[in-house]
Amino acid sequence: MDVERDQIVSTGPIPIVDLSQTNEELMARAVVKASQEWGVFQVVNHEIPEELLRRLQKVGRQFFELPEKEKEAVAKPANSKDIQGYATNSHKEDTQDGADRSDHLFHNISPPSWIDYRYWPKNPPHYREVNEEYARHVKKLVEKILGWLSEGLGLDREALIKEGFGGGDTAVYTMKINHYPPCPKPGLVLGLQPHTDIHGLTILVPNEIPGLQVFKDDQWFDVEYKPYAIVFLIGDPILRMSNGKYKNVLHRTTMDKEKTRMSWAVLLKPTYDKVIRPLTKLDDEAPKFKPITYGDHVYRKVNNLPLD
Ligand code: SIN
Ligand code: FE2
Repeated sequence: MDVERDQIVSTGPIPIVDLSQTNEELMARAVVKASQEWGVFQVVNHEIPEELLRRLQKVGRQFFELPEKEKEAVAKPANSKDIQGYATNSHKEDTQDGADRSDHLFHNISPPSWIDYRYWPKNPPHYREVNEEYARHVKKLVEKILGWLSEGLGLDREALIKEGFGGGDTAVYTMKINHYPPCPKPGLVLGLQPHTDIHGLTILVPNEIPGLQVFKDDQWFDVEYKPYAIVFLIGDPILRMSNGKYKNVLHRTTMDKEKTRMSWAVLLKPTYDKVIRPLTKLDDEAPKFKPITYGDHVYRKVNNLPLD
């Protein structure tokens, strides 16, 4: 899709939820409404310390500023089926219009049995400590949000995390750092092509360079940068678990001519053998989706095979 030729981009009224309010009901309702209408929202005053977010960004930035050779210490092995490791697509001269143009570092951050420290940078030295601390905070915040989303479906607070994702200590949390270097032709190249997320939920901390856009009602909206806000994006599995009530938002990223954009995305996923289906009490309604394992869902999507 060509950014210059396509729909007008508006600076959008992406819902922002202030988590410091005393009325929990109001916050929960705002999160549910945003997930039904947009599939994306930002949260502010979320109790993850700003100073921790600054450290998270600093150690990530320091890693990406290392010479290529040093970053290769945690490179994704050539034939690995696992997504973990560092991979670069941005420097390639032949990157064509229509291709993603960004670098990534993926590594699991929870549960402990899924962590492989070979993919965690040793340089800068505080990288591990900061990411471990961030993982603990993110899990707490995710469980709060999923609790509200479960109640918004008329279910118990734990329905999504337990029945949907297989439990808080089984669901897999993966850190994905996106790195989009300046692009001289940003109108022609996207950092990431339009997509809905394969995984269940994305918890995103961007740097100050705008670039994330979401699609709603036939147009693209910029997600406004708000310092220390955290962006939640609903992915395909939650659409299916909620029997279509929560939207899997279509989104893409643009590039800046002069500045490097970065974002820190935590991806929440069920294990590959977990069956994704509308949650138990919801299948009283006609189920809109057939059961499918998460592994099959990923395989079908990656290979452009049909899904219901
Ligand atoms: C993503 O879609 O995974 C990345 C979004 C972003 O970089 O803002
Ligand atoms: Fe995404």
